[in-house]
Amino acid sequence: MNEAIDIASLPSTSPGQVVLRVENLVTELRTTRGVVRAVDNVSFDLRAGETLGLVGESGSGKSLTCLSILRLLPEGIGRVAGGRVTCDGVDLVSLDEDAMRQYRGRRVSIILQDPMTSLNPVLTIGDQVGEGVRLYRGLKGKPLRDKIVDLLRRMRIPAPETRVDAYPHEMSGGMRQRVGGAIAVSGTPAVLIADEPTTALDATVQAQYLALLRDVQRREGLAILFVTHDFGIVANMCDRVAVMYAGRIVELAPVRELFDTPAHPYTEALLRSVPDLDVDVERLYSIEGQPPALHALPKGCAFAPRCPVAHGKCLAEPPPMFETGPGQRAACWKHEKNG
Ligand SMILES: Nc1ncnc2c1ncn2[C@@H]1O[C@H](COP(=O)(O)OP(=O)(O)OP(=O)(O)O)[C@@H](O)[C@H]1O
Ligand SMILES: [Mg+2]
Repeated sequence: MNEAIDIASLPSTSPGQVVLRVENLVTELRTTRGVVRAVDNVSFDLRAGETLGLVGESGSGKSLTCLSILRLLPEGIGRVAGGRVTCDGVDLVSLDEDAMRQYRGRRVSIILQDPMTSLNPVLTIGDQVGEGVRLYRGLKGKPLRDKIVDLLRRMRIPAPETRVDAYPHEMSGGMRQRVGGAIAVSGTPAVLIADEPTTALDATVQAQYLALLRDVQRREGLAILFVTHDFGIVANMCDRVAVMYAGRIVELAPVRELFDTPAHPYTEALLRSVPDLDVDVERLYSIEGQPPALHALPKGCAFAPRCPVAHGKCLAEPPPMFETGPGQRAACWKHEKNG
């Protein structure tokens, strides 16, 4: 299957073109309580140059969605059980491992939530950032080293000329997170998946980091899937937002509409639960009640037990997605008349 894909010869993407299409993605996890669906029929498009935010309470399936796209699920525990993930017209779900490796980093990059697990402890920062530059930008020798130092500098790593020879354990958590960012943009990806990439950064560095991502995005037409808990970042970075609850996308909306006219009661609750957009709060949601356990999902809408407007049908039958406005969809029975 490898020979069939010549990634290097693929045309660059044009603005607005769909570069990643996720359709009915299902990810199963093997747990002590049996097999559960941690990602349940997730679908969205990602267009060149746009940023799609992915929000939702802890445990809603954001990271597993990201990991499923690149098939980086924990071995023996998670598996993609259904759906398609199309990039460059190729279904990543059905690729063999060798072919998949060509896509990772090269066409679809990821910044992992935990920067320590994404770095190799026995390789220098320069080696790790340099791999993508060498492979995909074709540089070597001094131009290669210069490019690596340049990437580190742009990621606001202090003293990049010396840090390039450092090992991950010699750096702070925040620095490692920025190195993760440098690695992710070191190749020439069409899609960047960023899973809470700024949690270990202070406010100033975070702002610089986000500005850098936007800069790379503008120049290279990168499509970004951006996981965050922070609605300030959503407002700042995202064009559209997908809201996840118990493994499903319950609302998908342009960012303005999400803030102004949220269509799902869960989105409303999330927005209400943010105390102050300017305050840096960790794990900030405080919606009453708990998300359901995946092995004991309610029969109807998973949010119904916590929903202020739930009625009989909500408890009986899971709602499909309803179109609620231009580019806005929500899985809530209150929109049934629109369906
Ligand atoms: N390695 C694993 N083994 C078992 N269960 C897991 C594993 N990783 C995730 N899960 C479970 O899958 C569900 C979704 O997890 P996921 O990490 O995608 O959540 P998340 O939305 O990224 O949360 P957070 O905001 O805390 O990062 C949770 O119920 C979680 O407990
Ligand atoms: Mg996560």
